[in-house]
Amino acid sequence: MPENMKQAVVYQIYPKSFSSHRQQATGDLLGVVDRLDYLAWLGVDYLWLTPFYCSPQKDNGYDVSDYYRIDPAYGSMADFELLLAEARQRGIGIMLDIVVNHTSTEHAWFRQALKGRDNFYRDFYIWRDQPNNWQSKFGGSAWAFEPESGQYYLHLFDQTQADLNWENPQLRQAVFEMMRFWADKGVAGFRLDVINLISKDPAFSEDDSDGRHFYTDGPRVHEYLQQMHREVFAGRELLTVGEMSSTSLAHCIDYSHPERRELSMTFNFHHLKVDYPQGQKWQLGRFDFVGLKRILSDWQQGMHAGGGWNALFWCNHDQPRVVSRFGDEGQYRQVSAKMLATALHGLQGTPYLYQGEEIAMANPAFQHIEELRDVESLNAYQQLLASGLDRAQAMAVIRQKSRDNSRTPMQWDNSRFAGFSQTQPWLRLADDAGHINVAAALADPDSVLHHYRRLIALRKQYPVLADGDYRCLTPEHPSLWVYTRRSAAEMLLVISHFGAEAQSYRLPEGVIPEGWQAELLLSNYPAPPAGWQWQLRPWHSLLYRFYPVTPP
Ligand code: GLC
Repeated sequence: MPENMKQAVVYQIYPKSFSSHRQQATGDLLGVVDRLDYLAWLGVDYLWLTPFYCSPQKDNGYDVSDYYRIDPAYGSMADFELLLAEARQRGIGIMLDIVVNHTSTEHAWFRQALKGRDNFYRDFYIWRDQPNNWQSKFGGSAWAFEPESGQYYLHLFDQTQADLNWENPQLRQAVFEMMRFWADKGVAGFRLDVINLISKDPAFSEDDSDGRHFYTDGPRVHEYLQQMHREVFAGRELLTVGEMSSTSLAHCIDYSHPERRELSMTFNFHHLKVDYPQGQKWQLGRFDFVGLKRILSDWQQGMHAGGGWNALFWCNHDQPRVVSRFGDEGQYRQVSAKMLATALHGLQGTPYLYQGEEIAMANPAFQHIEELRDVESLNAYQQLLASGLDRAQAMAVIRQKSRDNSRTPMQWDNSRFAGFSQTQPWLRLADDAGHINVAAALADPDSVLHHYRRLIALRKQYPVLADGDYRCLTPEHPSLWVYTRRSAAEMLLVISHFGAEAQSYRLPEGVIPEGWQAELLLSNYPAPPAGWQWQLRPWHSLLYRFYPVTPP
């Protein structure tokens, strides 16, 4: 694990939508090279790039057909090597996305597997004579019939994403060999796609749910990750983060505890389900703010006590934009985006910033289903219609929930295609690109972008951000999230107001250690008058640091 891990900030790039060097409809690797000076200025330490391997793009690259080759739409291996070298020169490491729960059905292994039941690669996948009731995460049965052999193969995602059989030791070796290939090229880390789904319970039992209990954090997953550690990570300085679907705190402590030698840290999604009414993603709902605090607080305290390490995030390529979701994308867009930034970056863990979040990009308000590209959203739309919603009602859900909300092209400047390309992009631009863009944000010292840059710098300056424990002072408050982070030598106080109405707050007695001094490190409004009672403004955010007065 890299030494700087606890001070590091990771920036996530969705290459298809980041920047097109070749001025095409989709972004490319040289487009990322073009933007490295900007990213270095921002102060990020790692770039995680979502998959750019050869792929039929049914799930935008999460359906890999060749792990060793770069899809020509993104460029060449020489482009990738240039990116590695140019990033390294700026002190930035490149993290690759490793998708090994499944491959595309166009992968050579699957093609071989189709040749017959006795083919060597047949057992790289999961075949059954009869399906069970497990459901695909993209809708419908998780089993697809293959007429040649009369068997069904498992696909927890799209039909074209066949699940790999990790029970097979030769499959595991093939995966580790591929990961070593990229590690030897000099990548600085890996993000492991839905890695807690790789171990399926071999009984393939059923219950009245969708099957997830039989493959989530499955029986051999820790064993597999420890083997991956021995075979790939050991002796290398790699930052590794696992994407954990529907996981538990206890498992995440085990995945990320350094002594267990599995991964550096984990993503979990519990805090992003607070706007799923009755657990249903494809339903409109307001978010449960008290629930959000409770979940984040439990994970802060639980991971700290258990010795695990959190990956912190509001946004990624699968989530709607946070300013639309938990902030105010209208009148208070700038202040609410800054508040959300500070609330997250004040926590313990490694913050991940998703492209466009640093300029407060919002959901693009899709109007017609024809504007969308994402396979999950297109399936969901059909299911919503089938369930009885009319087109307008179904679109209202898609507009709020779709993964394409975060996949619109990055907004660099106010030119025709926002500096992303000179060609019509593959997914439409948001309408606000004329004023919400990097060029405008760079020019405004009070922008959300500059706020993020200060937060990233603070993490490197104050060890308490990495080490301090966490305590929530307002667990039940309907709009305030106030927490402290405390170590022996320092304390932070983070005050976040999730709302537009005026709100006053007084700090309880005894929170500030006797005789400690305070400084205001960051706020989204001019500094308030001194004192420990505040008249908070809409979406107010305050970050204070306390430290003992050194004896003369
Ligand atoms: C992860 C990815 C998502 C993809 C899925 C299947 O959740 O982040 O984009 O669709 O895995 O690979």
